[in-house]
Amino acid sequence: MFKINCLNPIAAVGMDLFSDKYTVTEDFAQADAALVRSASVHELELSEQLQAIARAGAGVNNIPLDKCADKGIVVFNTPGANANGVKELVIAGLLLASRDIVGGINWVQSVKDDENVAKLAEKNKSKFAGTEIKGKKLGIIGLGAIGVLVANAANRLGMQVYGYDPFISVDAAWNLSRDIKHINNVEDIYKECDFITVHVPLLDSTKKMINKEAISMMKDNVVILNFARDLLVDEVDMGEALAAGKVKKYVTDFPNPTTAGMPGALVIPHLGASTEESEDNCAIMAVKEIKEYLENGNIKNS
Ligand code: MLT
Repeated sequence: MFKINCLNPIAAVGMDLFSDKYTVTEDFAQADAALVRSASVHELELSEQLQAIARAGAGVNNIPLDKCADKGIVVFNTPGANANGVKELVIAGLLLASRDIVGGINWVQSVKDDENVAKLAEKNKSKFAGTEIKGKKLGIIGLGAIGVLVANAANRLGMQVYGYDPFISVDAAWNLSRDIKHINNVEDIYKECDFITVHVPLLDSTKKMINKEAISMMKDNVVILNFARDLLVDEVDMGEALAAGKVKKYVTDFPNPTTAGMPGALVIPHLGASTEESEDNCAIMAVKEIKEYLENGNIKNS
């Protein structure tokens, strides 16, 4: 009997795939394999018994990869399984940054009990006028599963899409998405684009990549989106750029006390992958990975 520990709740459709060869244990120390979403594994003792950890999501920075490698614990993630959910929220982010949907809704809430609410709206709506994304330049940094889906969707909404990924050649990028104008260096994305969205993993080389220096190369009134990882953005530098009006809007899926309440910051509580479909897809993929490894010794990260 294999013992499975869930450090976060995992969608039932995935858990149901465990046959009667498996039992769920509350005790991480007793588990043969663990499933995790966003909980941190860094502080936990890795037992000799633990053989695998599967992250129901793309990023694995909540898992101590070095310690796992030392102990021979295999770490899985679920690449692409929630990409559509994240893509849809990124597109919402582009629209939230361009149209004052949040301001307008909050204003209606504040006058909703007035019987003349419709007339008041007509009088006040000019305060919430916005711009359109059609024709604007969108720079996508990172052309993995999510970056490419965002490129295709934004292109269909009429945006000019520029993509940069140091690991992908022009030809490969062209095959991934015919909608991307491939850019060879990130500085050109910074200089050219009206909207910039990051879709890279958190590595030493990408940590705080959106910082004072990067922002200084960008156009005035740039819109920056981060739906990838919190530490990709230097929040102090971002706060200064918002206060100075250099960055018009900062749309982030990672609340941070430095920028959360600032004018121009549109902060979402890490909801990119929080859809029924994404949660189901991640759970199914993560459970299949664990079963394949525990039962057959196969390492299949998909
Ligand atoms: C991811 O890395 O794919 C997301 O953080 C998943 C999640 O929201 O749990």
